[in-house]
Amino acid sequence: MVAQALVVVSALLAAAVAVAAAEYVRPPPGRIILTEHTEPADHPQQAHVSAVGERHVRVSWVTDDKHAQSVVEYGKASRNYTMSATGDHTSYRYFLYSSGKIHHVTIGPLEPSTVYYYRCGEAGREFSLRTPPAALPIELALVGDLGQTEWTASTLAHASKTDYDMLLVPGDLSYADTQQPLWDSFGRFVQRHACRRPWMVTQGNHEVEAPPLHPVPASPPPFAAYGARWRMPHEESGSPSNLYYSFDAAGRAVHVVMLGSYAPFDASSDQYRWLARDLAAVDRRATPWLVVLLHAPWYNTNAAHQGEGEAMRKAMERLLFEARVDVVFAGHVHAYERFVSVSLFPSVHGESIGCPMTRTRSNSHCCRRRQGFEKNHRLAPLSMMREASFGHGRLRVVNATSAHWSWHRNDDADSVVRDELWLENLAANASCRQRQHDEPTAVNSRDDEL
Ligand SMILES: *[C@@H]1O[C@H](CO)[C@@H](O)[C@H](O)[C@H]1NC(C)=O
Ligand SMILES: *[C@@H]1O[C@H](CO)[C@@H](O)[C@H](O)[C@H]1NC(C)=O
Ligand SMILES: *[C@@H]1O[C@H](CO)[C@@H](O)[C@H](O)[C@H]1NC(C)=O
Repeated sequence: MVAQALVVVSALLAAAVAVAAAEYVRPPPGRIILTEHTEPADHPQQAHVSAVGERHVRVSWVTDDKHAQSVVEYGKASRNYTMSATGDHTSYRYFLYSSGKIHHVTIGPLEPSTVYYYRCGEAGREFSLRTPPAALPIELALVGDLGQTEWTASTLAHASKTDYDMLLVPGDLSYADTQQPLWDSFGRFVQRHACRRPWMVTQGNHEVEAPPLHPVPASPPPFAAYGARWRMPHEESGSPSNLYYSFDAAGRAVHVVMLGSYAPFDASSDQYRWLARDLAAVDRRATPWLVVLLHAPWYNTNAAHQGEGEAMRKAMERLLFEARVDVVFAGHVHAYERFVSVSLFPSVHGESIGCPMTRTRSNSHCCRRRQGFEKNHRLAPLSMMREASFGHGRLRVVNATSAHWSWHRNDDADSVVRDELWLENLAANASCRQRQHDEPTAVNSRDDEL
């Protein structure tokens, strides 16, 4: 049913896309917006929050003042803080740059779907956040490749015009590219959104910030800034690294897996072993929805970044396919593309393709190049919708069987829905629920090549 419906959708879209491709010309790159800190040194800046387990939230912020306390006071009424929590702090050096004091404080247990008011370090302004719901429905917003340009501003403004519960970012945040003050500027730039709803992120290539080819003494490790500033709940999901982790949302109805495109992923890697354990622990009766985010797409018909996700796809796709992951979101290519398809995994093994896996790339921003899709790319028949637009995506998980996906393109001041579809949950479908492979078959590497 689903597969057929989607084939129909694809036939219709093929015509529509041809027209759109001729008409839609993405505007030129936006100007970078630098955001200063104009308050006293002990006042919080760059505040952002992330979910930690089902009932806690981590509040992260930076102070220039090294004596500021890592404490958060909070409560359900404005300026009436009935609770407080103390956390820890970190900092890092990147050659001549020395970061501010980076605070991380976990607050809770918190009630679901509730607004909390909070203050960081007993100084400065009050913030407020709303905790995610404890059950479906849940609305997840997605933006990749953020940057800090005029386009980033309009995308985040569009995304927040319609309420959402959490923002998911499949990598590439600040585009600081080793210029560390740009991380601070980015933190201030996104604060107004990131202090209000949990932001769950994974890393992209712009987070690596690898030191020069020939490391000099005391050169910073990769991900120095990202790891210190954007701490995600990896311990809580049994992951040994901040570069990959998972979390549950809407009670346990949605399990979100954040993979690391720039951490080792081969079969002998920690990430691979963790992923296998993590997926095996998901009980699809309690957790119908299984969603994966990563940075470098495994499927891509754009001329940009061809093949960059291929090694990871080969290493890990099988795990995702066998776990019946419902949807995979990626970033990296600054254009929108949706595949409805299936893992290539079963097809190269000569088996019938049973259950669709939807893969979507929802990216945005920073783009300096015009992006071009390859008309005759081998995967083109699997590509349902592609358009070199900026914007954001939304996954509204309505109930255990249905979720609605939509792509909202930035059209100057407006946000326009350019693509949408209903996803049927794979675990709800008896013919998809069953694992089809008990024993791994050797992958034919020639056929498996994309
Ligand atoms: C379950 O999935 C299969 C394979 O995609 C499809 O043919 C079938 O119609 C689905 N069942 C339901 C109830 O949608
Ligand atoms: C502060 O909150 C507490 C607990 O909700 C409440 O009992 C108290 O009356 C509030 N105080 C003020 C000044 O609003
Ligand atoms: C789930 O939501 C879809 C879309 O709104 C609806 O058609 C369907 O009946 C719902 N299923 C259940 C079990 O409530």
